[in-house]
Order: sequence, then C-alpha cells, then structure tokens
Amino acid sequence: GRGAAVVAAAARRLAAQRRRLDAALAALRLPPAILRELRDKMRAELEHGLKRETQAQATVKMLPTYVCGMPDGTEKGKFLALDLGGTNFRVLLVKIKSGRRRSVQMYNKIFAIPLEIMQGTGEELFDHIVQCTADFLEYMGIKGARLPLGFTFSFPCRQTSIDKGTLVGWTKGFKATDCEGEDVVDMLREAIRRRNEFDLDIVAVVNDTVGTMMTCGYEDPNCEIGLIAGTGTNVCYMEDMKNIEIVEGNEGKMCINTEWGAFGDNGCIDYIRTKYDREVDEGSLNPGKQRYEKMTSGMYLGEIVRQILIDLTKQGLLFRGHISESLRKKGIFETKFLSQIESDRLALPQLRRILQQLGLDSTCEDSIVVKEVCAAVSTRAAQLCGAGLAAVVEKKRENRGVERLQITVGADGTLYKLHPHHWIKNCEYKDLSSESSCLNILFFSPFPSSFSRILQETVKELAPQCDVTFMLSEDGSGKGAALITAVVKRLHNVGQK
Ligand code: GLC
Repeated sequence: GRGAAVVAAAARRLAAQRRRLDAALAALRLPPAILRELRDKMRAELEHGLKRETQAQATVKMLPTYVCGMPDGTEKGKFLALDLGGTNFRVLLVKIKSGRRRSVQMYNKIFAIPLEIMQGTGEELFDHIVQCTADFLEYMGIKGARLPLGFTFSFPCRQTSIDKGTLVGWTKGFKATDCEGEDVVDMLREAIRRRNEFDLDIVAVVNDTVGTMMTCGYEDPNCEIGLIAGTGTNVCYMEDMKNIEIVEGNEGKMCINTEWGAFGDNGCIDYIRTKYDREVDEGSLNPGKQRYEKMTSGMYLGEIVRQILIDLTKQGLLFRGHISESLRKKGIFETKFLSQIESDRLALPQLRRILQQLGLDSTCEDSIVVKEVCAAVSTRAAQLCGAGLAAVVEKKRENRGVERLQITVGADGTLYKLHPHHWIKNCEYKDLSSESSCLNILFFSPFPSSFSRILQETVKELAPQCDVTFMLSEDGSGKGAALITAVVKRLHNVGQK
C-alpha cells in the first residue's frame, strides 16, 4: 500500500545519498598499490636530501642535528628545557640521576602562546619565551642557578653544531617576523640579554623528534627513530655518517631530522591530494608548503573534515543543505574534537551533543555522516604516515645490511596518543529519521582501531622485513632536550679531563 511506497521511496533516497557520500569519501581512500608507491617516493626524497648535488633542491631537507650518541645512563645533573613548537610552550626543570638510582625527575609549567605572539615579531616572541622562563625560575626559586639548558625548537633548522640552528622557515601556526634565516639560539640569548635579569647556559637546540628518540633511547638502545604525529608531523633517525654527504667524516652515526612534512612540496604527491586538501592548503599560513604534513597532522585534519562537510552540505547530503555560521568558521574542529567524535565509546546522543557544542545542529543521520568523514580523514593520515615510516625503516635495514631488522620507534604527539578510531561501515542505514531508531544503531566496531594502530599495520604491510616496536615517549621533547644537554655536558667534561 501507500506505506510501502513511502518506505521504498525513502530507501531509494538513502541509497542515492549513500552513493554520493561514498563518491566523496572515495577520493580519500589509498589502495595498497598507491601506498607502496608513496613509500618509494618518500625513499627517493630521503636520498635526495642526503646527497650533496641534490640536497639544495630537495624538499625533504634531511637536516643534520649534530646529535651523534645516545644517552648511556651515566648522565646526571639538573637541567632546564624549553619546549616551543607544539600546542603550548613549556619550561621544564629536569633532574637526572645516574648509577643504581638512575631516574629522571621533571617539573614543568605550561604557558599558552597567544596568536598575536605566534604571528607577531620575532623579538616579541622571544621576549615572551624569556618572560615565561623567568616566571618559572622565580616559581622554582632557581633564578641564580645558571643551569645548562636544552632548547626544543620544533621547526626546520639548519645546524652547524649542537648549539646553533638557523630557522629555515616557520611551519604549523607560527609566523613571527624577522626569524627566518636567523640563528634561534642567538635570538634566545639576545632576549635574555634584553631582559637583563638572569643568565642561562644554552647548550643544545633540538627538534622534538630528536628529543623523543633520545627519551626512548634512554630506555631502549634499539630506538633509533623518533616520530611526532601531533600538531605537525616529522621523523628523525640515526643515519650512518658516510651517507650524510654534507657533513665531514665517515665514522659513526648522526641523527638526521628529515622534516618530512615538506614531502610533496615539489608536486610529487599532488595526484593523491583532493580538492579538500587544496582548499586547506590555500587557506593556510604557508600555501604550497608542508603538503604531506597538511594531510597527516593534527593542525590540519579538522580543517579537511570541515571542507568535506561544507561540500557535502552543498550537495544537500548534510545539515539539510544549510551551511551554518559555525561551519564557515575556520578551525572549529580541533584535534581533540576530532578524536572525541571518532571515539569508539561515544554513543550517538553524545556525538550529537559535541556537534551541538560546535554550533552544528545535526540530525541523527548527520552525525553518522560526520563520524564517517572523521574516520576517513584520520585513516588516510595514519596510512600516509605509515607509508613514510616504512621508507625510513627499510632504509635503516639496508644501511645495516641485514635480512631482518629489529628496530624501535619512539613516538609522541597528540594525534598518536589520543586519536581513537572507529569504522561504522556495517552500520544500518534503515530508518534513521527518528531518535528512537537511531539509538538502536549500535556503534559496533568490526575493526576497532586507532591512528597508531593503522599506522603500525601500514608499516608492517609496507616494510615486511622490519620488526618495528613502537614505544610511546612520555614527555619526549622536554626530557629528551635535557638528556641531550646532559650528554653534551658529559662529553664536554670528558674532553676537559
Ligand atoms: C613540523 C616542524 C618539525 C616538527 C614537526 C612536529 O613539521 O617543521 O620540525 O618536528 O612539526 O612538531
């Protein structure tokens, strides 16, 4: 009868919607063959960055860090660490004990960096950092101590020694003027001098990936790779000196900061970029730069989601075809929302509440679609990251000339740590229009997963001869900077004896 016809019409409408939704999300799927290709492209870029003739043009810069050794447990003392480049600015006091009572104790304070400062002048930025440091020293009662300091500065820096680093270019949300091409350690020293209140002994400037690797290396000597999947994305690893053509010497190893976030800036991954990626890039602080990072890291995933939602709404597949004020707002989906939305444990009503908080009035159907979009975007991010990492571990394996490689990756970053994942593929799409039936849809998860899990699976697929252990680095960037400072001090003291 009439009822059946209405149901049939509704079913047809839903099926058509589903097809258009699938079509939109298909652009984000990366089949195994493409992932293998991306792994190989990344590998080629790593080689370019290491070779003298190609290094200047290379997009993956492969920056030498002058970190040549791992902590060996004999480090000790009190150190300061400054950590700039993640979500917040942090100052840490790190106490390292050696010997039988080997331990690391940390005290830290977190400071927000206002947008005006991130994007103001270089002087203002460094004055702010020194101001926060002063607060911390005051608070801890150690203003007169002149402790050795490690500066974690998580941006590409061209180094000529452990305590010198010229900023190549800002990435992520930073854009302070008059810093690019300058030595960041000098800028910090000058800001300390301007303040004229205390002195610091700046021993090392360190990328967050390097700090992360060192922190894990302190526990596990097999850790020779550091990975950050957070606001930005990057990897460092121990490379044989003989392969680093722009640094003198052939003995031993040195840690290379790959700055792989710039992978694709020469156009080599444009064929997998979608119109959503291009829109995010065009609306960013650094259009055309950090293309791989913009598809894989926390600062951008929410924006990709927002671009897709806008497109789906325009197609009439979401929010009753109405693009709300909130959806127009750049940055509404922070990483933390993304991970909440994706969370396995999140029931539909909670999900709708989150969307409501974001100013997105969604029907039950809408929230399912939003969740699916989030899953597609972060799955792709994890796979891309895995393809890159497969290139790095495979390179390490060849360097060592072994059939099988056992290696540990120290990993950190908000995306790696927090991002849950959930597939709703097997969800039923029948009769979604009323609240009650909506509640009946179990968020059952045939493949419960997470960013880190998809990342690990991808590495396993693409580098089958490598046994990769992932080690979560607890507070890697700060602790690592202190450990590096301690190693430098230790070696220096040995040199003096
Ligand atoms: C960006 C920076 C890089 C850093 C990464 C993770 O890619 O350029 O230096 O390691 O973000 O914070």
